[in-house]
Amino acid sequence: MKVFNYTFDRRPCRVTIGDGVLRMAGSTISRCRRGGKVLVVSDSNVAPLYADPVCRSLREAGLECRLAVVPAGEDSKSSERLAELYDELADMRLGRDGFLVAVGGGVVGDLTGFAAATWLRGVDFVICPTSVMAVVDASIGGKTGINHHTGKNLIGAFHQPVEVLIDPTCLRTLERRDLQAGLAESIKHALIEDEGFVSWHEAQREPILGCHPQTMGELIARNVAIKAKIVTQDAREQSGIRARLNFGHTIGHAIEASCGYRLRHGECVAFGMVAASRISQVLGLLSEEQHERVEALIRSFGLAVPVGEMTSYETLSSYIAGDKKVAASRVRWVLLSGIGRSVIRDDVDEAVVRDAIALTHAPRSPWTC
Ligand code: GLY
Repeated sequence: MKVFNYTFDRRPCRVTIGDGVLRMAGSTISRCRRGGKVLVVSDSNVAPLYADPVCRSLREAGLECRLAVVPAGEDSKSSERLAELYDELADMRLGRDGFLVAVGGGVVGDLTGFAAATWLRGVDFVICPTSVMAVVDASIGGKTGINHHTGKNLIGAFHQPVEVLIDPTCLRTLERRDLQAGLAESIKHALIEDEGFVSWHEAQREPILGCHPQTMGELIARNVAIKAKIVTQDAREQSGIRARLNFGHTIGHAIEASCGYRLRHGECVAFGMVAASRISQVLGLLSEEQHERVEALIRSFGLAVPVGEMTSYETLSSYIAGDKKVAASRVRWVLLSGIGRSVIRDDVDEAVVRDAIALTHAPRSPWTC
Protein backbone atom coordinates (compact mmCIF):
# COMPACT_ATOMS: atom_id res chain seq x y z
CA MET A 1 0.00 0.00 0.00
CA LYS A 2 1.39 3.42 -0.98
CA VAL A 3 0.04 6.66 0.50
CA PHE A 4 0.83 10.14 -0.85
CA ASN A 5 -0.31 13.42 0.65
CA TYR A 6 -0.63 16.50 -1.54
CA THR A 7 -2.00 20.00 -1.22
CA PHE A 8 -3.80 21.15 -4.34
CA ASP A 9 -5.39 24.58 -4.41
CA ARG A 10 -4.85 24.87 -0.62
CA ARG A 11 -6.85 21.65 -0.01
CA PRO A 12 -5.20 18.50 1.32
CA CYS A 13 -5.67 15.37 -0.76
CA ARG A 14 -4.56 11.85 0.19
CA VAL A 15 -3.88 9.34 -2.58
CA THR A 16 -3.84 5.67 -1.54
CA ILE A 17 -2.70 3.04 -4.02
CA GLY A 18 -3.02 -0.66 -3.22
CA ASP A 19 -4.73 -3.93 -4.05
CA GLY A 20 -8.06 -4.13 -2.24
CA VAL A 21 -8.28 -0.43 -1.22
CA LEU A 22 -11.87 -0.21 -2.50
CA ARG A 23 -12.98 -2.95 -0.11
CA MET A 24 -11.41 -0.87 2.69
CA ALA A 25 -12.91 2.45 1.53
CA GLY A 26 -15.07 2.79 4.64
CA SER A 27 -12.27 2.38 7.18
CA THR A 28 -9.90 4.60 5.16
CA ILE A 29 -12.42 7.41 4.78
CA SER A 30 -13.89 7.19 8.29
CA ARG A 31 -10.42 7.72 9.79
CA CYS A 32 -10.81 11.44 9.08
CA ARG A 33 -14.55 11.99 9.45
CA ARG A 34 -17.28 11.21 11.94
CA GLY A 35 -20.65 10.14 10.51
CA GLY A 36 -22.36 11.92 7.64
CA LYS A 37 -24.34 10.70 4.67
CA VAL A 38 -22.70 9.47 1.50
CA LEU A 39 -23.91 9.32 -2.09
CA VAL A 40 -21.88 6.85 -4.13
CA VAL A 41 -22.09 7.45 -7.88
CA SER A 42 -21.12 4.83 -10.44
CA ASP A 43 -22.07 3.77 -13.95
CA SER A 44 -23.94 0.81 -15.32
CA ASN A 45 -20.73 -1.04 -16.32
CA VAL A 46 -18.70 -0.41 -13.18
CA ALA A 47 -21.37 -0.51 -10.46
CA PRO A 48 -21.90 -4.29 -10.45
CA LEU A 49 -18.14 -4.87 -10.18
CA TYR A 50 -16.90 -2.22 -7.75
CA ALA A 51 -19.62 0.05 -6.32
CA ASP A 52 -21.21 -2.65 -4.17
CA PRO A 53 -18.01 -3.44 -2.21
CA VAL A 54 -17.44 0.29 -1.68
CA CYS A 55 -21.01 0.80 -0.39
CA ARG A 56 -20.73 -2.26 1.87
CA SER A 57 -17.48 -0.99 3.32
CA LEU A 58 -18.92 2.50 3.93
CA ARG A 59 -21.96 1.04 5.70
CA GLU A 60 -19.75 -1.21 7.82
CA ALA A 61 -17.89 1.95 8.88
CA GLY A 62 -21.18 3.39 10.14
CA LEU A 63 -21.88 5.75 7.26
CA GLU A 64 -25.37 6.10 5.76
CA CYS A 65 -24.86 5.33 2.10
CA ARG A 66 -26.95 5.41 -1.07
CA LEU A 67 -25.91 4.37 -4.59
CA ALA A 68 -26.81 6.25 -7.80
CA VAL A 69 -26.03 4.53 -11.11
CA VAL A 70 -25.81 6.53 -14.34
CA PRO A 71 -25.65 4.98 -17.83
CA ALA A 72 -22.08 4.21 -18.92
CA GLY A 73 -20.73 6.64 -21.52
CA GLU A 74 -19.89 10.26 -22.24
CA ASP A 75 -23.59 11.19 -22.56
CA SER A 76 -23.85 10.99 -18.78
CA LYS A 77 -21.78 14.17 -18.43
CA SER A 78 -25.01 16.10 -18.92
CA SER A 79 -27.22 18.59 -17.08
CA GLU A 80 -29.97 15.92 -17.02
CA ARG A 81 -27.83 13.41 -15.11
CA LEU A 82 -26.54 16.16 -12.86
CA ALA A 83 -30.12 17.18 -12.03
CA GLU A 84 -30.89 13.55 -11.14
CA LEU A 85 -27.96 13.53 -8.69
CA TYR A 86 -29.22 16.78 -7.11
CA ASP A 87 -32.67 15.14 -6.73
CA GLU A 88 -31.05 12.19 -4.99
CA LEU A 89 -28.99 14.47 -2.71
CA ALA A 90 -32.11 16.48 -1.84
CA ASP A 91 -34.11 13.33 -1.18
CA MET A 92 -31.50 11.94 1.22
CA ARG A 93 -31.00 15.41 2.76
CA LEU A 94 -27.25 15.22 2.39
CA GLY A 95 -25.83 18.08 4.49
CA ARG A 96 -22.47 19.83 4.64
CA ASP A 97 -21.01 16.96 6.67
CA GLY A 98 -21.99 14.54 3.88
CA PHE A 99 -19.91 13.70 0.84
CA LEU A 100 -19.96 12.05 -2.55
CA VAL A 101 -17.90 9.11 -3.77
CA ALA A 102 -17.25 8.51 -7.48
CA VAL A 103 -16.58 4.90 -8.44
CA GLY A 104 -15.71 4.66 -12.13
CA GLY A 105 -13.84 6.30 -14.97
CA GLY A 106 -13.43 9.89 -16.06
CA VAL A 107 -17.11 10.50 -16.83
CA VAL A 108 -18.29 9.40 -13.38
CA GLY A 109 -15.46 11.33 -11.69
CA ASP A 110 -16.19 14.56 -13.57
CA LEU A 111 -19.96 14.37 -13.05
CA THR A 112 -19.74 13.43 -9.36
CA GLY A 113 -17.04 16.01 -8.69
CA PHE A 114 -19.16 18.75 -10.23
CA ALA A 115 -22.20 17.70 -8.21
CA ALA A 116 -19.99 17.85 -5.09
CA ALA A 117 -18.57 21.24 -6.11
CA THR A 118 -22.01 22.77 -6.42
CA TRP A 119 -24.23 20.97 -3.88
CA LEU A 120 -24.66 23.31 -0.89
CA ARG A 121 -21.89 25.41 -2.52
CA GLY A 122 -19.44 22.57 -2.13
CA VAL A 123 -19.20 19.33 -0.17
CA ASP A 124 -16.29 16.88 -0.02
CA PHE A 125 -15.80 14.13 -2.52
CA VAL A 126 -13.72 11.01 -2.91
CA ILE A 127 -12.67 9.37 -6.17
CA CYS A 128 -12.21 5.63 -6.67
CA PRO A 129 -10.96 5.57 -10.29
CA THR A 130 -11.39 2.31 -12.18
CA SER A 131 -10.12 3.12 -15.70
CA VAL A 132 -6.51 3.77 -16.74
CA MET A 133 -7.42 7.26 -17.89
CA ALA A 134 -9.05 8.10 -14.56
CA VAL A 135 -6.25 6.47 -12.52
CA VAL A 136 -3.35 8.21 -14.25
CA ASP A 137 -4.97 11.53 -15.08
CA ALA A 138 -8.57 12.50 -14.30
CA SER A 139 -8.56 11.57 -10.61
CA ILE A 140 -5.69 13.95 -9.81
CA GLY A 141 -6.12 17.70 -9.94
CA GLY A 142 -9.77 18.48 -9.30
CA LYS A 143 -11.11 19.20 -12.78
CA THR A 144 -14.83 18.49 -12.62
CA GLY A 145 -17.63 19.24 -15.02
CA ILE A 146 -20.20 18.29 -17.59
CA ASN A 147 -20.51 18.84 -21.34
CA HIS A 148 -22.58 21.49 -23.11
CA HIS A 149 -24.13 20.67 -26.49
CA THR A 150 -21.61 23.04 -28.09
CA GLY A 151 -18.53 21.43 -26.56
CA LYS A 152 -16.88 19.15 -24.05
CA ASN A 153 -16.24 20.23 -20.44
CA LEU A 154 -17.61 23.73 -21.00
CA ILE A 155 -19.41 23.76 -17.63
CA GLY A 156 -17.31 22.90 -14.62
CA ALA A 157 -15.36 23.82 -11.53
CA PHE A 158 -12.03 23.12 -9.91
CA HIS A 159 -12.89 21.06 -6.85
CA GLN A 160 -10.20 18.88 -5.31
CA PRO A 161 -11.11 15.44 -3.96
CA VAL A 162 -10.18 14.80 -0.33
CA GLU A 163 -9.26 11.18 -1.02
CA VAL A 164 -8.28 9.22 -4.12
CA LEU A 165 -8.41 5.44 -3.66
CA ILE A 166 -6.69 3.55 -6.47
CA ASP A 167 -6.97 -0.24 -6.66
CA PRO A 168 -4.73 -1.40 -9.54
CA THR A 169 -6.56 -4.74 -9.73
CA CYS A 170 -9.56 -2.89 -11.24
CA LEU A 171 -7.53 -2.36 -14.40
CA ARG A 172 -7.39 -6.10 -15.05
CA THR A 173 -11.07 -6.23 -16.00
CA LEU A 174 -10.71 -3.52 -18.66
CA GLU A 175 -11.17 -4.33 -22.33
CA ARG A 176 -7.92 -4.13 -24.27
CA ARG A 177 -9.18 -1.13 -26.25
CA ASP A 178 -9.94 0.84 -23.06
CA LEU A 179 -6.57 -0.12 -21.56
CA GLN A 180 -4.73 1.10 -24.67
CA ALA A 181 -6.75 4.32 -24.88
CA GLY A 182 -6.03 5.14 -21.23
CA LEU A 183 -2.33 4.55 -21.74
CA ALA A 184 -2.29 7.54 -24.10
CA GLU A 185 -2.42 9.79 -21.01
CA SER A 186 0.49 7.95 -19.39
CA ILE A 187 2.55 8.36 -22.57
CA LYS A 188 1.52 12.02 -22.61
CA HIS A 189 2.85 12.58 -19.08
CA ALA A 190 6.14 10.98 -20.09
CA LEU A 191 6.50 12.96 -23.32
CA ILE A 192 5.85 16.36 -21.75
CA GLU A 193 7.76 15.88 -18.50
CA ASP A 194 10.12 12.92 -18.14
CA GLU A 195 12.41 11.39 -20.77
CA GLY A 196 13.29 8.52 -18.40
CA PHE A 197 9.60 7.63 -18.24
CA VAL A 198 9.48 7.65 -22.07
CA SER A 199 12.31 5.07 -22.12
CA TRP A 200 10.47 3.11 -19.42
CA HIS A 201 7.34 2.89 -21.61
CA GLU A 202 9.48 1.75 -24.54
CA ALA A 203 11.12 -0.97 -22.44
CA GLN A 204 7.99 -2.09 -20.55
CA ARG A 205 5.51 -2.22 -23.45
CA GLU A 206 4.75 -5.96 -23.05
CA PRO A 207 4.15 -6.00 -19.26
CA ILE A 208 2.16 -2.77 -19.47
CA LEU A 209 -0.15 -4.13 -22.19
CA GLY A 210 -0.34 -7.40 -20.22
CA CYS A 211 -1.36 -5.39 -17.12
CA HIS A 212 1.44 -6.98 -15.07
CA PRO A 213 0.66 -6.02 -11.43
CA GLN A 214 4.12 -4.73 -10.47
CA THR A 215 4.51 -2.80 -13.72
CA MET A 216 1.05 -1.26 -13.38
CA GLY A 217 1.83 -0.30 -9.77
CA GLU A 218 4.91 1.57 -10.97
CA LEU A 219 3.03 3.13 -13.89
CA ILE A 220 0.32 4.44 -11.57
CA ALA A 221 2.73 5.82 -8.94
CA ARG A 222 4.88 7.59 -11.56
CA ASN A 223 1.83 9.12 -13.26
CA VAL A 224 0.36 10.31 -9.97
CA ALA A 225 3.72 11.90 -9.09
CA ILE A 226 4.03 13.70 -12.45
CA LYS A 227 0.44 14.93 -12.46
CA ALA A 228 0.64 16.02 -8.81
CA LYS A 229 3.91 17.90 -9.43
CA ILE A 230 2.28 19.88 -12.25
CA VAL A 231 -1.01 20.51 -10.49
CA THR A 232 0.56 21.68 -7.21
CA GLN A 233 2.31 24.42 -9.22
CA ASP A 234 -0.76 25.59 -11.14
CA ALA A 235 -3.96 24.11 -9.70
CA ARG A 236 -6.30 26.36 -11.69
CA GLU A 237 -4.44 26.35 -15.01
CA GLN A 238 -3.47 30.00 -14.79
CA SER A 239 0.30 30.15 -15.26
CA GLY A 240 0.58 27.88 -18.31
CA ILE A 241 2.26 25.04 -16.36
CA ARG A 242 -0.88 22.89 -16.12
CA ALA A 243 -1.91 23.77 -19.69
CA ARG A 244 0.98 21.55 -20.85
CA LEU A 245 -1.19 18.59 -19.84
CA ASN A 246 -3.29 19.45 -22.87
CA PHE A 247 -0.62 18.03 -25.20
CA GLY A 248 -2.46 16.25 -28.01
CA HIS A 249 -5.81 17.59 -26.83
CA THR A 250 -6.37 20.42 -29.35
CA ILE A 251 -6.69 18.00 -32.25
CA GLY A 252 -7.84 15.20 -29.92
CA HIS A 253 -10.89 17.15 -28.71
CA ALA A 254 -11.69 18.16 -32.31
CA ILE A 255 -11.67 14.50 -33.41
CA GLU A 256 -13.78 13.46 -30.42
CA ALA A 257 -16.42 16.11 -31.12
CA SER A 258 -16.47 15.57 -34.89
CA CYS A 259 -17.01 11.82 -34.36
CA GLY A 260 -19.86 12.43 -31.93
CA TYR A 261 -17.73 11.00 -29.08
CA ARG A 262 -17.81 7.51 -30.61
CA LEU A 263 -14.03 7.10 -30.28
CA ARG A 264 -12.25 6.80 -26.93
CA HIS A 265 -10.78 10.05 -25.55
CA GLY A 266 -7.30 8.49 -25.43
CA GLU A 267 -7.51 7.30 -29.03
CA CYS A 268 -8.23 10.85 -30.16
CA VAL A 269 -5.53 12.33 -27.91
CA ALA A 270 -2.99 9.80 -29.22
CA PHE A 271 -3.70 10.91 -32.78
CA GLY A 272 -3.45 14.54 -31.61
CA MET A 273 -0.09 13.84 -29.93
CA VAL A 274 1.42 12.40 -33.11
CA ALA A 275 0.16 15.42 -35.07
CA ALA A 276 1.41 17.86 -32.41
CA SER A 277 4.80 16.14 -32.42
CA ARG A 278 4.93 16.53 -36.21
CA ILE A 279 4.08 20.26 -35.80
CA SER A 280 6.94 20.50 -33.26
CA GLN A 281 9.30 18.92 -35.80
CA VAL A 282 8.20 21.27 -38.60
CA LEU A 283 8.77 24.28 -36.31
CA GLY A 284 12.27 23.02 -35.53
CA LEU A 285 11.55 22.18 -31.90
CA LEU A 286 12.13 18.43 -32.43
CA SER A 287 14.49 16.63 -34.79
CA GLU A 288 13.04 14.19 -37.36
CA GLU A 289 14.58 11.38 -35.31
CA GLN A 290 12.91 12.57 -32.10
CA HIS A 291 9.55 12.87 -33.86
CA GLU A 292 9.92 9.33 -35.20
CA ARG A 293 10.64 8.10 -31.68
CA VAL A 294 7.46 9.77 -30.39
CA GLU A 295 5.36 8.39 -33.25
CA ALA A 296 6.79 4.86 -32.92
CA LEU A 297 6.15 4.84 -29.15
CA ILE A 298 2.53 5.90 -29.50
CA ARG A 299 1.81 3.53 -32.38
CA SER A 300 3.57 0.66 -30.57
CA PHE A 301 0.75 0.79 -28.00
CA GLY A 302 -1.78 0.30 -30.82
CA LEU A 303 -2.67 3.98 -30.70
CA ALA A 304 -3.02 6.75 -33.29
CA VAL A 305 -4.08 4.15 -35.81
CA PRO A 306 -6.22 6.12 -38.25
CA VAL A 307 -9.75 4.80 -38.46
CA GLY A 308 -12.48 5.77 -40.90
CA GLU A 309 -14.19 8.06 -38.42
CA MET A 310 -11.13 10.26 -37.92
CA THR A 311 -11.96 13.26 -40.00
CA SER A 312 -10.20 15.54 -42.44
CA TYR A 313 -8.51 18.81 -41.63
CA GLU A 314 -11.48 20.72 -43.10
CA THR A 315 -13.86 19.19 -40.55
CA LEU A 316 -11.44 19.33 -37.63
CA SER A 317 -10.47 22.96 -38.24
CA SER A 318 -14.01 24.15 -37.49
CA TYR A 319 -13.87 22.42 -34.10
CA ILE A 320 -10.40 23.82 -33.43
CA ALA A 321 -11.74 27.28 -34.38
CA GLY A 322 -14.70 26.68 -32.05
CA ASP A 323 -12.28 26.17 -29.16
CA LYS A 324 -10.53 29.37 -30.17
CA LYS A 325 -13.82 31.29 -30.12
CA VAL A 326 -14.67 30.05 -26.64
CA ALA A 327 -11.25 31.05 -25.34
CA ALA A 328 -11.43 34.39 -27.22
CA SER A 329 -7.80 34.00 -28.18
CA ARG A 330 -5.42 32.29 -30.59
CA VAL A 331 -5.13 28.51 -30.49
CA ARG A 332 -2.51 27.66 -27.88
CA TRP A 333 -0.65 24.58 -29.08
CA VAL A 334 1.19 22.40 -26.59
CA LEU A 335 4.27 21.19 -28.47
CA LEU A 336 7.36 19.18 -27.62
CA SER A 337 10.66 21.00 -27.31
CA GLY A 338 12.50 17.73 -26.73
CA ILE A 339 11.66 14.25 -25.45
CA GLY A 340 10.25 14.89 -21.98
CA ARG A 341 9.97 18.68 -22.51
CA SER A 342 7.04 20.80 -23.66
CA VAL A 343 6.24 24.40 -24.65
CA ILE A 344 3.15 26.38 -25.54
CA ARG A 345 3.03 28.24 -28.87
CA ASP A 346 0.26 30.34 -30.39
CA ASP A 347 1.97 31.06 -33.72
CA VAL A 348 1.33 27.87 -35.66
CA ASP A 349 0.21 28.36 -39.29
CA GLU A 350 -2.90 26.55 -40.45
CA ALA A 351 -0.93 25.00 -43.31
CA VAL A 352 1.44 23.35 -40.82
CA VAL A 353 -1.50 21.91 -38.90
CA ARG A 354 -3.15 20.65 -42.12
CA ASP A 355 0.06 18.88 -43.22
CA ALA A 356 0.63 17.40 -39.76
CA ILE A 357 -2.89 15.90 -39.71
CA ALA A 358 -2.46 14.53 -43.24
CA LEU A 359 0.87 12.92 -42.31
CA THR A 360 -0.63 11.41 -39.17
CA HIS A 361 -3.38 9.88 -41.32
CA ALA A 362 -0.69 8.32 -43.53
CA PRO A 363 1.77 6.78 -41.09
CA ARG A 364 5.04 5.23 -42.15
CA SER A 365 5.66 3.48 -38.85
CA PRO A 366 5.74 -0.35 -38.72
CA TRP A 367 3.31 -0.28 -35.79
CA THR A 368 0.15 0.43 -37.76
CA CYS A 369 -1.12 -3.13 -38.05
N1 GLY B 1 -6.29 16.37 -17.90
C1 GLY B 1 -5.65 17.62 -17.91
C2 GLY B 1 -5.68 18.30 -16.58
O1 GLY B 1 -6.07 17.73 -15.59
O2 GLY B 1 -5.31 19.44 -16.52
